Amino acid sequence: MCGIVGYIGPRPCAPILIDGLRKLEYRGYDSAGLAVLDTTQVAVGEAPKLGIVRAVGKLSKLDDAVRERPVPGNVGIGHTRWATHGRPTEANAHPHMVGDVAVVHNGILENHVELRNELQAQGRKFLSETDTEIAAHLIDIELANGARSLLEATKLALSRVRGAYAIAAVSRKEPDVVVVAKSFSPLVLGIGEGEVFAASDVPALLAHTRDVIFLEDGDICELRANAVKIERLLVHGDGSPERITVTPVVRHPKKVDWSPAQAEKQGYKHFMLKEIFEQPTALENTLRGRVSLDDGDINSGEIGLAPEDVKDVKRVILLACGTSHHAAIAGRNWIESLGKVPATVELASEFRYRDAIVGPGDLVVSVSQSGETADTLAAVRDAKKRGAKLLAISNVVGSAIPRASDGALYTHAGPEIGVASTKAFTTQLSALLMLAVWLGRRNGKLTSERARDLLQKAIELPTAMREALDSDGECEKIARRQLVQTDAKDCLFLGRGLNHPIALEGALKLKEISYIHAEGYAAGEMKHGPIALIDATMPVVVVAPRDAHYEKIASNVQEVRAREGRVIAIVPRGDTTIANMAQDVIEIPDVDPELTPFITVIPLQLIAYHTADLKGTDVDQPRNLAKTVTVE
Ligand code: M6R
Repeated sequence: MCGIVGYIGPRPCAPILIDGLRKLEYRGYDSAGLAVLDTTQVAVGEAPKLGIVRAVGKLSKLDDAVRERPVPGNVGIGHTRWATHGRPTEANAHPHMVGDVAVVHNGILENHVELRNELQAQGRKFLSETDTEIAAHLIDIELANGARSLLEATKLALSRVRGAYAIAAVSRKEPDVVVVAKSFSPLVLGIGEGEVFAASDVPALLAHTRDVIFLEDGDICELRANAVKIERLLVHGDGSPERITVTPVVRHPKKVDWSPAQAEKQGYKHFMLKEIFEQPTALENTLRGRVSLDDGDINSGEIGLAPEDVKDVKRVILLACGTSHHAAIAGRNWIESLGKVPATVELASEFRYRDAIVGPGDLVVSVSQSGETADTLAAVRDAKKRGAKLLAISNVVGSAIPRASDGALYTHAGPEIGVASTKAFTTQLSALLMLAVWLGRRNGKLTSERARDLLQKAIELPTAMREALDSDGECEKIARRQLVQTDAKDCLFLGRGLNHPIALEGALKLKEISYIHAEGYAAGEMKHGPIALIDATMPVVVVAPRDAHYEKIASNVQEVRAREGRVIAIVPRGDTTIANMAQDVIEIPDVDPELTPFITVIPLQLIAYHTADLKGTDVDQPRNLAKTVTVE
């Protein structure tokens, strides 16, 4: 779960690599480094110098180090790390250099222990604890054994490894080439005018080009300033040259419609705050062109499945992790209440290991912002093997999970940089709502009148979301008063029905960025355990929009107050019942009860944001986390 970049072209590459890494810093941020071939001043008959700079800590440390020790040259690779093998030290930071070769890597080489033992037995010395250094040794060995090029040596080296990788390598002996390869970890190429870029994710390319090639698993590429050669590497056995099949492939660039400005903060203090405020627009973009109000339906071409795919569907299984899992819980409710199809929701990380019963007749809907989460991807692949139909809901076009699925329904949130997911969540909700309506309309269980009414109200949601965003100032005051000034150590979030996942999401947001322990609970479950926690020191956030659960949740508020818990209530505008019992109140606009999660989540995101900001934590890059979890 790291970020890698590569560049080859006419420009000085260190600033390009650092800028690219900055856009990828959300993937890992405990150390960073780059390697640049100094092709600017090479003595005749000599190989260029390979300048390597590495630094522990945020990317700014690497930036400082490069200012002190500039690395001229226009061919290079870079890395931002989230430690898996070995602590965040300079020795473990990438690139790793062996002989003339430097390597950066995102992923995990599963057979690293046996390879390291084997190489050490051959007398190879290791300078780091990483699995990546093994790859650098393997390439060096293949070059020493007569491989004709860096490309060939990398192919042979990769035939020895098992696991996930996106890798980039440069060699002093071939200063006009960068070799990159992908298996299970994400990697995209950016195609410019006389220059080529490689990166773990599209935002790192946007400042330079929007023409990108999403590489497939097994792709290995030789990048030159004016040419990209892509081959598919198939490993048959133990790695001897004749046991590798290499097939040339052509992958056409796609134009991405994300703009460079979307990957900038645009005046906001943090990406997270910007992304919270982008939600109305992200929702508009995700709904646009997909909803047909004339017949109260979703345009079939947009849903990612053909109408005939649905006739054999007996059950929907939603798979996701983290925030996407919370969206999936709301989706499960809609698929049952509107689509009238039995639905279950599962944590992908559990589903893949529990020998679940899945097969023909199941529609497996994966929900993943990045489209790369390792647990979700593995669960999807497993469901595919067992004969289920697969639909991916993702924000990243061409990412691994949509590619592994039969169909994709993309959210149009734009790049989400903050590690804490916000606009991805609300756009996932809208995709799931559309799916539920589409299913209900296909099987005739949802009337066109109800669908039309709901979709009309869904289209009006951005206006209500903007109103909910007006609570920003109030959310900041509440965060200060209830969570920061009181130095709260715990916080409880309660919700019912469609707002149970919102309570879960509010708790996840708070804990991941403010480091305050938080629990999300179905309010009806409170009396079965968590009520024991409630006393005068416990802030309890209650999500109570106007819906069928309002009275029940009002009773829960009474129960909290009877134990002196401090209630922060999210209530409909003009409410008095719950408002009169709560210490703090945030009023939200009334929307259709089916659509309340789109609105109720906003104050919870803002409370979490302001709590973290007031506490001075690193909001966009919280400790120990990474945006895209490409490891198990
Ligand atoms: O890219 P995905 O949606 O698959 O990511 C899933 C989770 O890792 C992600 O939602 C995570 O929980 C976020 N940090 C939550 O804010």
